[in-house]
Amino acid sequence: MGIFSREGASGFSASSTAEQVTQGIEGTGLTAIVTGASSGIGAETARVLALRGLHVVMAVRNMDSGVTVKETILKEIPNAKIDVRQLDLSSLASVRNFASDYNSSGLPLNILINNAGAGATPFKLSQDSIELVFATNHLGHFLLTNLLLETMKSTSRESNREGRIVNVSSLLHQYGYREGIRFDKINDTAGYNRYFAYAQSKLANVLHANELTRRMKEEGVEITANSLHPGAIGTKITRNDCFFQCLFNVFGIFTGKTIPQGAATTCFVALHPQVKGVSGEYFVDCNIAKSSSQAKDADLAAKLWDFRASGFSLWSTAEQVTEGINGTGLTAIVTGGSSGIGAKTCRVLTLCGVHVVMAVRNTAAGESVKETILEEIPGAKIDVREFDLNSLESERSIQAFQRRHRNAIATNHLGHFLLTKLLLKTMKSTSGESKIEGRIVNVSSSLHPDGYRKGIHFDKINDEAGYNRYYAYAQSKLANLLHTNELTRRLKQEGVKITASSLHPLKN
Ligand SMILES: NC(=O)c1ccc[n+]([C@@H]2O[C@H](COP(=O)([O-])OP(=O)(O)OC[C@H]3O[C@@H](n4cnc5c(N)ncnc54)[C@H](OP(=O)(O)O)[C@@H]3O)[C@@H](O)[C@H]2O)c1
Repeated sequence: MGIFSREGASGFSASSTAEQVTQGIEGTGLTAIVTGASSGIGAETARVLALRGLHVVMAVRNMDSGVTVKETILKEIPNAKIDVRQLDLSSLASVRNFASDYNSSGLPLNILINNAGAGATPFKLSQDSIELVFATNHLGHFLLTNLLLETMKSTSRESNREGRIVNVSSLLHQYGYREGIRFDKINDTAGYNRYFAYAQSKLANVLHANELTRRMKEEGVEITANSLHPGAIGTKITRNDCFFQCLFNVFGIFTGKTIPQGAATTCFVALHPQVKGVSGEYFVDCNIAKSSSQAKDADLAAKLWDFRASGFSLWSTAEQVTEGINGTGLTAIVTGGSSGIGAKTCRVLTLCGVHVVMAVRNTAAGESVKETILEEIPGAKIDVREFDLNSLESERSIQAFQRRHRNAIATNHLGHFLLTKLLLKTMKSTSGESKIEGRIVNVSSSLHPDGYRKGIHFDKINDEAGYNRYYAYAQSKLANLLHTNELTRRLKQEGVKITASSLHPLKN
């Protein structure tokens, strides 16, 4: 540490090392994930946590570097409990794989340290077409945290110990774009400045911890979330950037830290008894510090949390619009899940943890979609059931009616109408018992206005004379919409917690 180092209220200062601030703390029985543990602050954090007896899971992009760090730690601490697992935070699929493997491993999770970080990088898009620094530093960690939260909650409940989430931010969080987070311009190359983009992602780390705090408190869950600035440390992130390197050369003499000092605040916030029950704070040098006014802005934090909802566009994928949503405990029926949009819907719902029942006419096709999904998401909860919307013989008197009617209206509307009606009782009791809103989603089409002049040919549904297959299709899609609207009216009237919506799925 440089020449200025004063102890704060915690009794520690900028020159305290991670070993010093965790001296005497017994971590046996605790499990922690440290992202970006393959170098710098993350590697030292993993070492010191292992030294204190924690089971450490190093979540790293580069497995070779991760294994090298693990071997070095094992040389020093032969009985260290330490694993290395692959995680690329810039890829939502990688985050999901990591979380799904972890959640199905049966390991508990007491502490999550979101440490990994991409530095100030020239504009680049991630695999998911999101600006790389924001994708890595914020979105990847946001999704990871959400996907691991259930495991953290159950660990905390079962062990009766507080869970802790630690976001490694930076002092630079206050020196970014004027508006803080450029919600509508995340991918805008025009105004891109790599230092502002880095600062934006670090501001997002603080806001994320604060909004997590609010939500955990609201839920009454014993999990805290804090953010921190580790100090100015000569690591890969600073060495690989000439601007950061220059700053470090000039100011490092006064404020620069060694890596053991750089990991101190992280280890302090993750382990120290002084931090018990403390949440939504920003730490510097192992003491609570002031973050920027934007970082304290609760509305900004809530907006960032909901950002994906406001950022959707024509090009958004099903994965993007459901990113971070945990559907565990929900059950959905998807009709026509054996191909196309239905199959994709099944895949993404299972990715979110929903138990999906694929209602399909062709069970062989359904089983093949199921197998593909299970290959990608081994823990997916997915069943295939035979179901032909065009012949609900087993169901009721509708069969006679249905046989008399044209295919499009019978399949697209009447089959779904009857199905919805027959399942409504189950949906109502599910929603009543779980206190979770039920949702009925009718996949209509923007072609719904382009049918017969009268909309629905009530007296001529089976009239061969005026039949036009395109109008008949549009008629059935209009019926989907009308069905939705009438359902909404009736459910509201009944005061039932079930919504009904219709949609057009494709680009025009
Ligand atoms: N050093 C400082 O002065 C300073 C100051 C303020 C804040 N911070 C923050 O401290 C944290 C740790 O940085 P550091 O200084 O220790 O730098 P570092 O040595 O470069 O460590 C960064 C770590 O993040 C990992 N990482 C980068 N992109 C990743 C991705 N897409 N997926 C998974 N892991 C990825 C790196 O993995 P690879 O080995 O694969 O590259 C590396 O292990 C960062 O969040 C940084 O923003 C550092």
